[in-house]
Amino acid sequence: MSMREVTPKRILGMKGNERITMVTAYDYPSALLADEAGIDIIFVGDSLGMVVYGEDNTLNVSMDQMVYHTRAVSRAVRRALVLADMPFASYEVSVEEGIKNAVRLIRAGADAVKIEGGADHEELVRRLVRMGVPVMGHTGLTPQRYLRLGGYRITGETEDEVEEILRDAKALERAGAFAVVLEFVLADVAKLVTEEVSIPTIGIGAGPYVDGQVLVWHDLLGMYESSPPFAKRYAELRSIISDALRRYRKDVKDGRFPGREHYWEFQDKEAFKRMLKNLSLTEAGKDDC
Ligand code: KIV
Repeated sequence: MSMREVTPKRILGMKGNERITMVTAYDYPSALLADEAGIDIIFVGDSLGMVVYGEDNTLNVSMDQMVYHTRAVSRAVRRALVLADMPFASYEVSVEEGIKNAVRLIRAGADAVKIEGGADHEELVRRLVRMGVPVMGHTGLTPQRYLRLGGYRITGETEDEVEEILRDAKALERAGAFAVVLEFVLADVAKLVTEEVSIPTIGIGAGPYVDGQVLVWHDLLGMYESSPPFAKRYAELRSIISDALRRYRKDVKDGRFPGREHYWEFQDKEAFKRMLKNLSLTEAGKDDC
């Protein structure tokens, strides 16, 4: 795969000049559409554990799953930057293990990796960047730590939390990360962080005062009955898909599908009859042996 048009350097250069667009994708057709739509960053998020595999959280997502989906997405993308998530416990045990796992994602076709947290992983980010692996950080609501956070909730309401979010963003900037996701952070805090760091901030549920926005594929397209309150549904695919499936089912039950345009027949019926006759002679010949 030759270098894609959108690089981490280009994302860095967009801060203050152009808003960054990012969307998750977990398979080939979605990635193809996102790339064709001109999205800047196509992100294989560990949210796939929830929206694709139906888990209650992201804690069971494995490196093998991330590699598998990154490969499919990577095959589709020509222009956008392909970013892959490091799943829970794939980088917390040691810096060495984090490096080994990040390399697997890069070899699967990612242009960069994302980790949750910042200050706790400054050394890992520094080592990855030094060896040529671009890194995006993620602070605020970090779903891999939702047990500690006490659920999926807004962050940045207390002094401690504001301090932690800012500390993460600054540590990421220092270590050479090219951007940071701010998830479910009060908009005032997201604004403060955006002003305080030189790297782009990409918000999800963090308001408008950030350098870019990210949404989860299934939320953006209305694939489930409900989506998080901060997500805007740009389509209602759930009802479009259900309606198509119901109409398909009814057509088959009623004998309307396949229609005459969906199948092919012998034009020469006599030739077909002769063929059957020949076949049965052949069959009879076999029986005689
Ligand atoms: O995994 C994911 O989809 C994410 C986004 C919410 C940023 O981390």
